[in-house]
Amino acid sequence: MDQLLVALDVDTAADARALADRLRGVAGGFKIGSRLFTREGPGIVEELAGRGDRVFLDLKFHDIPNTVAGAVAAATRLGVWMLNVHASGGSAMMRAARDAAHQEAARASRPAPLLIAVTMLTSLNQQALSDIGVIDGMAAQVGRLAALTEASGLDGVVASPHEIDIIRRRCGRQFVIVTPGIRGATDVKGDQSRTMTAAEALASGATYLVVGRPIIAAHDPRAAAERIASDCRSALTS
Ligand code: C5P
Repeated sequence: MDQLLVALDVDTAADARALADRLRGVAGGFKIGSRLFTREGPGIVEELAGRGDRVFLDLKFHDIPNTVAGAVAAATRLGVWMLNVHASGGSAMMRAARDAAHQEAARASRPAPLLIAVTMLTSLNQQALSDIGVIDGMAAQVGRLAALTEASGLDGVVASPHEIDIIRRRCGRQFVIVTPGIRGATDVKGDQSRTMTAAEALASGATYLVVGRPIIAAHDPRAAAERIASDCRSALTS
């Protein structure tokens, strides 16, 4: 299922490789985030990309434009399929990231990776937003950052499923929306506060879903992924 990206939030390359081997064919790609990357480095990214897996490198770069451009160029050289920066890093930073991805991909004669921006982390709620000094509501802030992302030439955003509607209204049908915060009705929410089921998120217009613990912490990860993929297929055909 193309739309289902599984977060390989594990500590070792061996665990990541084992999960990828079990989930290949059901998952449409694998997300490697700061936990695994900090522990194992770029080798596991290159390894999975080298076997043809779509790798979403979720390091959420957030720094001055020159530094982010260098990091994005390095990630592009690893062969990632998708990567991200924080939209709150601003337009100059996002444009520098986009230019770096395109230039590096052209140099390596490969397609540019999808470059998306994080709007607001899905673990944040309204109170957390006001704690960091954002006085607008969540939807307004997400809409503003999504519009800035599109104007900066990026391909899309990461956002809670609850914000898909406002993003679609501001950014149009081609804009990629990647949604974490996916939980089944009976799943533990953990630190995610704005959740939806996979089928609901797709029906609402998400382009890709990122699912971590409901799959990787399941007794049988492949069966859990198959269940979610099958829910997604029903949502897409109904
Ligand atoms: O385990 P769970 O399904 O909550 O995993 C969601 C994944 O998506 C985690 O790897 C988390 O870092 C990531 N993510 C997120 N919210 C964002 C961006 C990425 O939860 N805004």
